Amino acid sequence: MDIERFQEQLLRWFRQQKRDLPWRKDQDPYHIWVSEIMLQQTRVETAIPYYEKFIEQFPTVEDLAQAKEEEVLKAWEGLGYYSRARNLHQGVKEVREKYGGKVPDDKEEILKIPGIGSYTAGAILSIAYGKKEPAVDGNVLRVFSRLLNSFEDISKMKTKKIIEEKVKELIPDHAASDFNQALMELGATVCTPKSPLCLLCPVMDFCEGRKEGNQDQLPVKAKK
Ligand code: ADE
Repeated sequence: MDIERFQEQLLRWFRQQKRDLPWRKDQDPYHIWVSEIMLQQTRVETAIPYYEKFIEQFPTVEDLAQAKEEEVLKAWEGLGYYSRARNLHQGVKEVREKYGGKVPDDKEEILKIPGIGSYTAGAILSIAYGKKEPAVDGNVLRVFSRLLNSFEDISKMKTKKIIEEKVKELIPDHAASDFNQALMELGATVCTPKSPLCLLCPVMDFCEGRKEGNQDQLPVKAKK
């Protein structure tokens, strides 16, 4: 595969087509963290007004760290999955205490923070710090199952690890943020779960799944 051409086509598409989203206005690692936690179980359109209000109310790590838990839960009201808010609050307090309020830019350290798993770590490190770390969520697992025409079960940790490795190899120098966001964007808007819009896909000519006519059968997901 011509990696450079893949990178170019994907990045050009993203830079032209990307949605104007509030968490794309700055690269503050704490802001990216809040957005990625919200987006884990909440749709983009629902998350937007919550994100804007949350950042207005708690603009910095320091502001959130000193808030009362009930204030944080109140700001989260309506989003559900409240353990996300509790972990975020706890995580921010740890960042204040252990790292002087600066979100770590190192994978090993950032993974020690409550509520930050491999996906969130990769998203913060790449989007806020430009590090070449993969950020593989459900969207990216679907995109890569199709690109690779892979029938491996995406609910297995082993499959996720393989795809993370694959993404990591493809991240361009100096464009980790846009590249990872482009993969998320592709999954959200083109390489959708049902009836993917292959004709609009910037990397259609790289897609083995499409070549074999398997795009509607992929990804394979055993666990419900
Ligand atoms: N879904 C998860 N993270 C996202 C992001 N940064 N932008 C848009 N959709 C997302």
